[in-house]
Amino acid sequence: MIKKQINESVAYLKSKGFDAPEIGIVLGTGLGKLSDEIENPIEAHYNHIPFFPLATVEFHTGKLIYGTLEGKKTVVMQGRFHIYEGYDLLDVTYPVRVMHKLGIKKLFISNAAGAINLDYKKGDIMLIEDHINMQGGSPLAFKDVSQFGDRFVDMGEPYDVDMRNKIIDIAKKEGISLQKGVYVSVVGPQLETKAEYRMLKIIGADAVGMSTVPEVIVANHLKLPVVAMSVLTDECDPDNLQSVNIAEIIEIARNTEPKMIKLFRELIKSI
Ligand code: HPA
Repeated sequence: MIKKQINESVAYLKSKGFDAPEIGIVLGTGLGKLSDEIENPIEAHYNHIPFFPLATVEFHTGKLIYGTLEGKKTVVMQGRFHIYEGYDLLDVTYPVRVMHKLGIKKLFISNAAGAINLDYKKGDIMLIEDHINMQGGSPLAFKDVSQFGDRFVDMGEPYDVDMRNKIIDIAKKEGISLQKGVYVSVVGPQLETKAEYRMLKIIGADAVGMSTVPEVIVANHLKLPVVAMSVLTDECDPDNLQSVNIAEIIEIARNTEPKMIKLFRELIKSI
């Protein structure tokens, strides 16, 4: 029973001092630095939390960090679970359900993504306004999911409009250029072929990545307001495709991270 497992994960975290966080943050690839800015941090490694998905070797650094950021109690996920590591969509979204049960009222998500819209460049930040799910499954298509609420979730406005507008205002005020667009999620882990990039452009995507959509679907299932931003780490031009390497993706994400941190911090201040 998934509810019972979540309760045990939550009981463990509460016993470690994770006391009623208001904000949950998921940090994407190369975007781990924000966790260093958490004040009075308490850490829980994923493999110590009962019923958390079992960490793989590549994933030994995954942890939840609890503390305050801009005066608000916050829980940060450093490292997330991806389908391409062999997890299913229940595993991938389990931490969102745990953070919700801990009490978060808002969820912020970040990721590294490729730019399909060629007006967008490496190192840009894109506020996600809508998404396309190309992962071939739903985190709500499992037995027991209906115990958390009606599984036929409305997805007309999956990204909280009020928080999106705040982020747009903050970016203007801080002089951070901010792109906006549609994120498409794929399974990965291989990158796309030229033909796939052409298709993704035709179907209306501005950026492509391997995460975020399952977590956003579950946040909507839980009626948990969510916003998400992509750091664009490569330009996916099918007519002039450069080979990407993951080290470069991580480096570009790292270099862009301070702007993302600024946006998240100011957003917390504003709510
Ligand atoms: N596809 C292409 N480029 C990327 C991706 C992806 O999924 N993630 C980060 N850069």
